[in-house]
Amino acid sequence: MADEGPRGWGAPLYARVLEAAQVGTGTSVLDIGCGSGVFARAAADRGALVSGVDSDPSAVAAAAAAVPEGTFRVGDAHDPPAGPFDVVAAVQLLAHVTNPLVVLRGAARVGGVVAVTAWGREQECDVRLFGDALARWLPPRPQPGGPPPITEPARLRRLVELAGLRVDSFDEVPCPFDYPDEDALVGPLLASGMGRHAANRAGPGAVREAVLRRLAGNRTPEGGYRLHNLFRVLVARPV
Ligand SMILES: C[S@@+](CC[C@H](N)C(=O)[O-])C[C@H]1O[C@@H](n2cnc3c(N)ncnc32)[C@H](O)[C@@H]1O
Repeated sequence: MADEGPRGWGAPLYARVLEAAQVGTGTSVLDIGCGSGVFARAAADRGALVSGVDSDPSAVAAAAAAVPEGTFRVGDAHDPPAGPFDVVAAVQLLAHVTNPLVVLRGAARVGGVVAVTAWGREQECDVRLFGDALARWLPPRPQPGGPPPITEPARLRRLVELAGLRVDSFDEVPCPFDYPDEDALVGPLLASGMGRHAANRAGPGAVREAVLRRLAGNRTPEGGYRLHNLFRVLVARPV
């Protein structure tokens, strides 16, 4: 969600979704897995009539506060409200749901346009460097098995097609994560589950040192840090 990265990181992603789905004044948008409403806010700022659902009640409360003119409720993206909506957006949702195909079929049933986003492949996203830095203090990563992840563009496209949608556009969107200084880089990591786990084993000082060493190549001339990440935006219509 918006807290996947530093404040404002998602602006280019949201702008691409809104442009590709042609969201403007009066467009009805259902935001499934709306989180704290940052994308919904961007849609409403373009004049869209926004509704949102999320399974997390605290996210729904935050979205309602961020977009007072919208309508938000606790709900399951596998079973969206009937609509119909001009656009259904699943922004950074599909990797989190039990069955992405069912979610996409539901979106295709109630939306004239369906827009989805996903992280790029691991090697396309510098955020993997946090995990690299802490790997020695973390449990071994499970061996990949089963189908390829949603981050694999061919799988995302295939899921969308299997849901009865025809792909209109499939774009790559760079979204750098910018941190003004070392504290801004390390602080949120130490507060995360992964950072807490590592710090419990090695201590926060060792974690900080490991992260700064691993991300030395991402340091900017101003003393901040820039992590280059790629996301994908797919826009499709029911066949
Ligand atoms: C990574 S966050 C993305 C939030 C938001 N779309 C954004 O881009 O900032 C994923 C969100 O999906 C919600 N979520 C996960 N499974 C869901 C489901 N089955 N139905 C509705 N929301 C779900 C989570 O509660 C969380 O808010």
